[in-house]
Amino acid sequence: MSLPKLLMARAVFPEVLERLSAHFEVQANQADTVWSKAELTERLKGKQAAFTTGGDRIDAEVLAACPDLKICANMAVGYNNFDIDAMTAAGVLATNAPDVLTETTADFGFALLMATARRIAESEHFLRAGQWTKWSFDMFAGSDIHGATLGILGMGRIGQGIARRGAHGFGMNVIYHNRSRLEAGLEAECKARYVSKEELLKTADHLVLVLPYSAASHHAMGAAELALMKPTATLVNIARGGIVDDAALALALKNKTIAAAGLDVFEGEPLVHPGLLDVPNVVLTPHIASASIPTRLAMANLAADNLIAFIGGKAPLTPLNPAVLERR
Ligand code: DGY
Repeated sequence: MSLPKLLMARAVFPEVLERLSAHFEVQANQADTVWSKAELTERLKGKQAAFTTGGDRIDAEVLAACPDLKICANMAVGYNNFDIDAMTAAGVLATNAPDVLTETTADFGFALLMATARRIAESEHFLRAGQWTKWSFDMFAGSDIHGATLGILGMGRIGQGIARRGAHGFGMNVIYHNRSRLEAGLEAECKARYVSKEELLKTADHLVLVLPYSAASHHAMGAAELALMKPTATLVNIARGGIVDDAALALALKNKTIAAAGLDVFEGEPLVHPGLLDVPNVVLTPHIASASIPTRLAMANLAADNLIAFIGGKAPLTPLNPAVLERR
């Protein structure tokens, strides 16, 4: 009996590839070539399954060209690369990789916040450039984390992880804004107080963005929102590019209307707005918030579990459009 065909859109851990090879005829991409949408579509033709990452766009155009496709498993919790409505209409199951990355991503959000507020990257560059000739009282003086007000925009699992770290680890006063308010028990656990978006922007000393990207959250932090922030405030984005208007942020950093930013995600990444590369008061990392080896392995294995379960006629663990399964 021939095995169903699976396309790996990007490279993956060899052990995960080996697991998948027992269930699928796999076309791998261990060279990790980044394909254009047209190149991805061409390779997806005749495949029943795809293992994707957040940069691989699956929309109505791709689906129309690939009628054999039945499942796309994203190795990411975010799935704004999927047009879920189009996938549901085409009867293609979408899965993502939530939960396994929550604590690792919250760790990174906190690390980026600390590096930003305490000017770690900027001072390290200064030292490496041989510019450290004397100590001075205000050299790279930043802002405090402990006791400060931590604002969180988007209070899902990762936002809650950051809140717990801030409240319990650093004695921060945690405020948050979200589409819906957390239930009282969770609020108490996170020691977090629900506020309006305006109050969040005006009062946070450090603002961390953890909301999902959608048309509704596009430029949720634009010039008007940045203007509400304190001139001493820091902004951290570990959510998705496009949530922040990067051009407006570059200007705010240049004009010091906010103190600093830490960015792991960018509009149009891997390209970075040149204005952000020009200012010293920003820490830039290449979308690595979930990048610990155990977590990336767990994410890849969860995507593989979803593919293997689905193809074996079992319930996938983390379906995004379960309506497709009901029609099976
Ligand atoms: C996710 O899982 O969505 C992270 O951003 C990694 O892509």
